Amino acid sequence: MENSKLLHAVLISFSLAFVIPCGYGWGFEGHIAVCRIAQARLSKAAAAVVTKLLPASAKNDLGVLCPWPDQVKLRYRWSSSLHFINTPHRDCKDSNGVKGNCLAGAINNYTTELLTYPNKRQQYNLTEALLFLSHFMGDIHQPLHVGYTSDKGGNTIKVKWFNRATNLHHVWDTDIINKGKGVGGNNSNIDAFIIKIQQKINSQWAKQVNGWGSCNTASCPNVYALESIKAACQWAYKGVQSGSILKDDYFQTRLPVVELRLAQAGVRLAAALNRIFK
Ligand SMILES: *[C@@H]1O[C@H](CO)[C@@H](O)[C@H](O)[C@H]1NC(C)=O
Ligand SMILES: *[C@@H]1O[C@H](CO)[C@@H](O)[C@H](O)[C@H]1NC(C)=O
Ligand SMILES: *[C@@H]1O[C@H](CO)[C@@H](O)[C@H](O)[C@H]1NC(C)=O
Ligand SMILES: [Zn+2]
Repeated sequence: MENSKLLHAVLISFSLAFVIPCGYGWGFEGHIAVCRIAQARLSKAAAAVVTKLLPASAKNDLGVLCPWPDQVKLRYRWSSSLHFINTPHRDCKDSNGVKGNCLAGAINNYTTELLTYPNKRQQYNLTEALLFLSHFMGDIHQPLHVGYTSDKGGNTIKVKWFNRATNLHHVWDTDIINKGKGVGGNNSNIDAFIIKIQQKINSQWAKQVNGWGSCNTASCPNVYALESIKAACQWAYKGVQSGSILKDDYFQTRLPVVELRLAQAGVRLAAALNRIFK
C-alpha cells in the first residue's frame, strides 16, 4: 500500500507523460523487484552515485523509478523500439533499418553515457541514462522481450490465464508475478516476493551468482538475450498456442523461471553499475 502510493506520487511528479497501460516490459512490479535487488548489492561508490542521480522525490529508492521508461514511450518516441529485440533480427535493425536500435544496443548506449559521469561538463542527462539502463537490464531478462517477430514476442498469442483472457506476453510481464506474490506472502505487497528472491540468491543460487555478474565489459547484453530466447522456447512458448488455457501447471513450472530471471537481472544490474561507477 505504502509502496504503491509512493510509486504513484513519484511517477506523477517525475513525468507528465500519459501513463500507457502496460505494453512491453516486466510489469511495474517486475521492474521494481529487479532494481531493489540491484540497489541492495551496490558497492559504496556506486550506491553514492545512484543516490546523487536519483531525484529527491524517489527518496533514494531506484526501484520506484524503474518503470519510468515505460511511461515515456509516447513522449520519447525514439525510445519505444528499445524495449525489445526481435528474434531472429539479431542485428537489431528497427523498421527504419537503423542498426543497434534495440534492447541490447540501448544497454550499450546508456552504459557508455554513464561512463562519462566523471566529466565536469555533462552532455547527457545521466538520471535518465540510469533509469533507462536499469529498466532495460530488466527487460532483456524477460524471455518474451527477446521473442519471435512473427508473434510480437507472444503479444499476438491470445490465451486464458485461469479464467481471464490475456496474451502470452502479458502472462510473462505481469500475471505470473502477480500470482507469485500471493504464494507464501502478502498479496498486496511486492516486498515479500523480493525477499524470497533475495533468499534464493543467497542459498540455492549462491554458487552461480558470481558467474552471473561476470563480464569483460560493463555488461554482456548479448549473453542475456541469448539466455532469454532459450528460456522463451524452453518455457514461455512451450506447449502454448493461441487459445491455450494456462493454469496451475503452467504457473507452478514457470514461476521459478521468472524468479530466476528477475534475480539475474538484479545481480547483473548491480554488477554493471559497480563496474561503471568505480
Ligand atoms: C541512446 O541515447 C540517446 C539519448 O541520450 C537516444 O537519443 C538514442 O536514441 C539512444 N540510442 C539507443 C540505441 O539506445
Ligand atoms: C533529466 O531528466 C529528468 C527526467 O526526464 C528531468 O526531470 C530532469 O529535469 C532532467 N535534468 C536535466 C538537467 O535536464
Ligand atoms: C499484508 O500487508 C499489509 C500492508 O503492508 C499488512 O498490514 C498486513 O499485516 C500484511 N499481512 C500479512 C499476512 O503479512
Ligand atoms: Zn520496457
